[in-house]
Parts: sequence; structure tokens; C-alpha cells
Amino acid sequence: MNLRIKLITFKFLIPFFLFCFGQNWALAQQGGIYTQSDVFHPVRGQQGMVASQEARATQIGLDILKKGGNAIDAAVGVSFALAVTLPRAGNIAGGGFMLVHLGKTGQTISIDYREMAPLAASFDMYLNEGEDVDKKLSQLSHKSAGVPGTVAGMAYVLKEYGTLSLKEVIAPAIRLAEEGIIVNEDIEYTLNKGKKRLQQWPETARIYYKPDGSVYSVGERMVFKDLAWSLNEIAEKGPSAFYEGAIAQKLVADMKKHGGLITMEDLKKYRIAIREPVQGTYRGHEIIGMPPPSSGGIHIIQMLNILEAFPLGDIGPNSANSLHLIAESMKLAFADRSKYLGDPDWWDIPIKGLISKNYATELRAMINRDRVTPSKMVNPEDPDPYESDETTHISVMDQFGNVVSSTTTLNFSFGSGIVVPGTGMLLNDEMDNFAAKPGVPNSYGLLGGQANAIQPTKRPLSSMSPMILLKDGKPFLATGSPGGPRLINAILQVIINVIDHRMNIAEATNARRIHHQWKPDKLRVEKGFNPDTWRLLEEKGHQVRVTNSLGSTQSILKTEEGFNGSSDPRRSGALTLGY
Ligand code: GLY
Repeated sequence: MNLRIKLITFKFLIPFFLFCFGQNWALAQQGGIYTQSDVFHPVRGQQGMVASQEARATQIGLDILKKGGNAIDAAVGVSFALAVTLPRAGNIAGGGFMLVHLGKTGQTISIDYREMAPLAASFDMYLNEGEDVDKKLSQLSHKSAGVPGTVAGMAYVLKEYGTLSLKEVIAPAIRLAEEGIIVNEDIEYTLNKGKKRLQQWPETARIYYKPDGSVYSVGERMVFKDLAWSLNEIAEKGPSAFYEGAIAQKLVADMKKHGGLITMEDLKKYRIAIREPVQGTYRGHEIIGMPPPSSGGIHIIQMLNILEAFPLGDIGPNSANSLHLIAESMKLAFADRSKYLGDPDWWDIPIKGLISKNYATELRAMINRDRVTPSKMVNPEDPDPYESDETTHISVMDQFGNVVSSTTTLNFSFGSGIVVPGTGMLLNDEMDNFAAKPGVPNSYGLLGGQANAIQPTKRPLSSMSPMILLKDGKPFLATGSPGGPRLINAILQVIINVIDHRMNIAEATNARRIHHQWKPDKLRVEKGFNPDTWRLLEEKGHQVRVTNSLGSTQSILKTEEGFNGSSDPRRSGALTLGY
């Protein structure tokens, strides 16, 4: 070995091995028996597994499973814990979608706990005198909040399918809020990034920043007494505390003070919706997704239908030829999204057609295997959509064959940025997911039509796509991701990597991703692709743009050996644990 190689060994390899040992040791202290996880090896478990964006929340879920709770108990426990430990996305004043697969009956239920527009909302409520969208109003004001659904959703699913009480599953979250949490990198980074926006609101500044306005550093403790009070109210009195009781009163008082729309009547009338999941098949697997107002379930099935006729496994993972086919399928699906998708309670959506194999055959015929088909119209504003960190996903599988795949959000990171005084809870800004002015792109650069126009009690269209895949009727894969529209494509690629490319779930998670959303007509590729591949894609006519990481998936794959899980390393702080 020459001197140079020896030096490299000491400088990089030894610290690398020490780092890996340290990681595994640290994970082992957190209670999971199977803890090894890296870019090539999944976390393993035999009896149950939890994957979430935040390690302490994952541990709470695993503890619930170990004590005999089922996947539903664990998922609800994790969801409330994330409201404390992942304030940018976990929530009690937001909403989301959950798929529950029941081991006993083989049934899969979809629970829509998405926010609803308040009764006083109107079609043009965000248009200023010049008929332009007032983005501050639609994104960062009391008027940007939809009527929250998380508490109703969690209480419902626990009552119907859980085995523990609300009090039992919320208790760990209350403890965390009362005793405080040690700030990790993610909290420090996101609070730093959101400082200007969040400190506009004195209550938010009081709770999330130090008295001198500075950010808590990694290792310091943050205590959330008001949030502990809210969680305790919900634990003691049930969801009525949130929708009719003391929390509701504080929320409505703040709305009145700041010109918001949510009233006691809105809160009392809030209802979750139990919907028929959308179902498709892909190379012998059943694909189960969230129906509208999620757009993801439909479009993931639609893209898989288009791609099923191409031998992606033979064409090869992340080769220019397979990426081209995937990108062209994305474009076709996102074009349909802009036209057809909205709240199914208000708008007829041709769901059956969109997910039919025949329609996919028709669409596939539009794909030229060698050349790009340009997106039909050029967007005059050509917005550059940014990665959104705000949404978060939880996957849980238990020994009873139950599976939960739940995605929840406040919309933006920390939602509207408004903490309701006395409650410690951040308010969503989900109203911005409506098409405030149909035909004008929203904050993700997505175009929406009349189907997604604002109407009172309507739910805004979402990209959130919790997915469950079955093989021979048994749980195979649970996955989901944040990332606005990008999450739809991130999940698609995890599924393709597992099924077509036979990757294990860690490899499938870590493989580089692409994103195309029809408009703007750009193919986003994560850093790390070979420049030769871009060049080949450009030769086919793609406008390739390198982008930040796409999505942050939380996945559990059931294999013959047991549960295999992987938390995406694209964002720090996530953890999968199995036992
Ligand atoms: N708030 C992002 C989404 O629902 O897709």
C-alpha cells in the first residue's frame, strides 16, 4: 500500500466505520432490536415496524406495538407525537389522508381527514382589485386556514380500528410537550429558515424562539406547555374539545381578532369522509391509493398502467431510456391532474377512466420512445416549483396483518405560521391548495381548473398519496412521502424500483429520482445522476434541470424474511424501527 492510500484509509475509512458503529449503537439504545439501516440495507423486524420522519415519534409508535397495541394505535400515537417533535408538518390543526388495511378482513379503508373550506369562503376570496391572487392572504393569514381535520380523523380511526384509548395513545405526546424535547438539526434548521415569516406572529415567536428572538440550538430543550394543554384536553374530552370546547373557542376568538373565517359552526360541522380507495394492478401486485381529493392515488395507478407495457426491468434502473418513459408518463398524468381533479363531493371526476388499463393504452400510444412530446402549452410565468418540506408520512405494519399508511400536513412548513394563542397549535394554510384563480399556477407551480375552485365546505385538491400494495391479498408495501406534487413521482419510483428493479427497500428509497409535472416543461433530476444520462435525455429533447432532493419516503416492505423498512435519508431526523 503506498503512503497516499494509507493516508486515505486513515482519513476517511476509519472515521467512516466509527461513524457507522456509532449510528447503530445509537439506534440500538432506542429500543429496536433490528436497527441496521443504511443506503443498501433495510431495517428489519419480525413482529412490527414503524417508519416516520422523526425518531422520537417512531419510538413512541414502536413502544405502542411492543405493548400489544396494533398498527392503528401506533399510527395515531405517532401522529400526535409528530405535532410536538416535527412542528413543521406534524399537527393537530392540519389534515391528511390515511389508508388502513385490516389483517382480519383483508379490507382497506381510506379516511379523508383533509381540511374543509369555511362556510364563509368564496370563489374569489383571494383576488385583489386587479383580479390577481393575493398570496399573503391565501398562504400566510388567518384566512388561509381550512377547518382542521386531524383530530377528528385520528379519533375516528382509533375508535373504529384501534385497541387502545385516545388517552393512552396521546399520553406520550403530552409527556414530550410538557417535559420538552431536545432540539435536533431539523428543528434548528427549519426554525432558522422560517424565522422572518414565523416571527411576524407574537405567539409563534414566543413559543418557537427564545425571548431575544434567537433560534434554539441543537441540544437545547424546548417546552410546549400550551400544546400539552391542548393535547390533554383532547385526551380527556375527546375530539369535542377541539371542535366544540375550549380549544375551539380559542381558535374562533383568534379568527375574529384577525379577520379569519372559521366559526364555531364550521368546527362543529367538520366531518371526515370515508371513501372508496382507488385500486389498480401492476405486474401482479394490487395497488391501493387514496381517492380524490387526493390526486396521487389516481395518478400513481395511471402512470403504472402506462408503464406496465414497457419492460422497465430490462431497460434498466435510471437508464436514460427508462427515465424517458417514466418522465413522459408523468407528463401525461399531470396534464390530466390539472383538468379533472378536485373534491369528489363537488365535482364529477372520471376516476374509472383515469385508472383504466384501456385509457393507459391510449395514452401510451402518445409516447415516442426516442423523442420528447413537448407539453402542449408553455406557461407564461414558468414558475419554478420548490421542494416542500411540510408534509409528512407514517407507515406502520403489525404482526396481525394490519397496515397503516398516513400522510398529514399543514401545507407550508409550519403552515400559515400562526400559533393560536393559548393552544400552542400551528394553523394550516391549506386553502392555498385550491385554485385561487383557475388557470393560474399555485405555489407549487401547479395549474388547477374549476374542479378545484374554492367553495364553502369543499376540500382542496391534494398531492398527498399514502399507498398500500398487496401481493396475493397480503400486505406487501406501505409507503408515502412529503414533497407537494413531487411526492407522487417519488412514490412511483419507489414502487418501480421494488417491483421492476427488484431492489430492497433501502436501495429503492435511495436511488436517485426525477420529476416532471407537465408544466413547466422541465425534467428535474436529483444531483447524482451521471451527466452522460442527462446528455442522452437532452438528446431526446428533455429540458433537464438539476434539483434538490425529491421527497422523503417512509416505507415498509413485507418480505418472506419479515418486515424490511427504510426512512429516506434525504431529510435528517427520520427513523424506521422494527422488533
Ligand atoms: N398541502 C400539500 C398537499 O396537500 O398536497
